[in-house]
Amino acid sequence: MVVYFQFARNFQNNQISSEMIIQNRIPLIGHILRRCHQQAIEINARKDNLTAYFGKWPETEQKEFRQHMRIIADFISEPEEQQLHEEIEPYMSRLRYEFDHWDDAIHGFRETERKKWFPKNREVLERVRQVAFDGAIMPYVHILDLAPDGVIKPHVDSTRYCGNTISGISLLSDSVMRLVRTDEQRYQQQSPGTATQPTSQGSEPDAAYRHQPEAPLKNNFYADILLPRRSLYIMSHTARYNFTHEILSKEHSQFRGTLVPKTRRISIICRNEP
Ligand code: OGA
Ligand code: MN
Repeated sequence: MVVYFQFARNFQNNQISSEMIIQNRIPLIGHILRRCHQQAIEINARKDNLTAYFGKWPETEQKEFRQHMRIIADFISEPEEQQLHEEIEPYMSRLRYEFDHWDDAIHGFRETERKKWFPKNREVLERVRQVAFDGAIMPYVHILDLAPDGVIKPHVDSTRYCGNTISGISLLSDSVMRLVRTDEQRYQQQSPGTATQPTSQGSEPDAAYRHQPEAPLKNNFYADILLPRRSLYIMSHTARYNFTHEILSKEHSQFRGTLVPKTRRISIICRNEP
């Protein structure tokens, strides 16, 4: 306000100069910078609040994990969530939830892949591509619809079908994702086609996409991540290779001791090339 009145007065008196404009704006720029800085601090604080660490984490491991497991709350708006849901629902609602193979990594789900999207939704995916993948993303987007009593059991995505980064937008429900440290060497990405493939467990073809290694909680370190509805997670490098990931069942869906009600959840998952 003060800046504006001073500016108006000078303007009326024909005393305006470019230095004056810059000088008058300095407090305003300072104010904007302070606001940005404050917002960055708040966003970081919020991000940290979405991760709870358990067990004895070596300091370097935790630092790396923080960089490679990013959660962006409110990545999409409510209208964007609705638009995505509207595009998916007509196809998805015709499939039936699969509960049959208890060996499989996912239980109580239906899924599809989609390449062509409505323009509005294409914009959202373009944002994912920029933010999570530096522009390099696989053309097919994976859509996973988890029933209210569905569960994703601990697994590591196959290095044969998926590169170093996996991202997911959560629609319709909050949920808790748990990442448990597993055997370091086993899933390290080597040159394409040479990554160590553990023997398959569970029934094909699920076992080919999702390996279920032993990663006991006891004497292990792990993290629980609160995935709010409309958030984006970006799981890469160490978080993607050295940890199993899972979505806790509704009975176990707790974060920092508070129940996180898990209803039907749709995730829109993007991956990069192996
Ligand atoms: C998967 C998976 C996580 C999610 O499909 O392999 O881990 O966010 N999905 O739905
Ligand atoms: Mn997975």
